[in-house]
Amino acid sequence: MKALDETVERVDLRRDLDGLVELEAASFRNPWTCEMLLAELADVAVALAYVVRTTDRQQAGYCSCRLIEDELHLNNLAVHPTQRRCGLGRRLLEHLLHDVFDLGARRVTLEVRASNAAALALYDSLAFVRRGLRRGYYTMPVEDAVILWRSLP
Ligand SMILES: CC(C)(COP(=O)(O)OP(=O)(O)OC[C@H]1O[C@@H](n2cnc3c(N)ncnc32)[C@H](O)[C@@H]1OP(=O)(O)O)[C@@H](O)C(=O)NCCC(=O)NCCS
Repeated sequence: MKALDETVERVDLRRDLDGLVELEAASFRNPWTCEMLLAELADVAVALAYVVRTTDRQQAGYCSCRLIEDELHLNNLAVHPTQRRCGLGRRLLEHLLHDVFDLGARRVTLEVRASNAAALALYDSLAFVRRGLRRGYYTMPVEDAVILWRSLP
């Protein structure tokens, strides 16, 4: 299934906060709360977030990250469960990687649960490379994190 008419843009907290809280709750066992999102995204010196909108859902997916010098760290990525496998996650990341290059990013890293086959397949398809494992990095449940890197462009 292909999603039509999607747009990707920087998050506007005044407009998007409630939708991001909903996305978090629908996507993670330990979701970021409203307060956690606000605290992270208020750190405007380094925090960046992008939202993908569709005709069906204003906040169909989002990604938050931190840009420190030339290194981008992806924190959270989520697409609403009703809109997965439509290409939105890929579209969101492609847009983000293009945009952050213009902002000075030259390499990107993230951690992902070792059992998260969907996310790993998405990152593999975008040329991220597995560079290590953090043992027991995640809690509830305890699980290893796969460390991924990608150079830009
Ligand atoms: C991971 C996630 C963001 C993917 O978003 P999405 O919009 O469904 O992904 P896309 O439709 O863009 O898929 C792009 C590619 O990723 C891979 N992929 C996505 N979902 C997959 C799944 N369930 N199983 C296997 N591969 C999958 C495929 O290679 C897919 O390409 P294809 O559809 O041509 O086969 C989404 O599943 C999600 O929000 N999961 C819950 C939160 C999460 O785990 N976030 C990642 C934290 S690091």
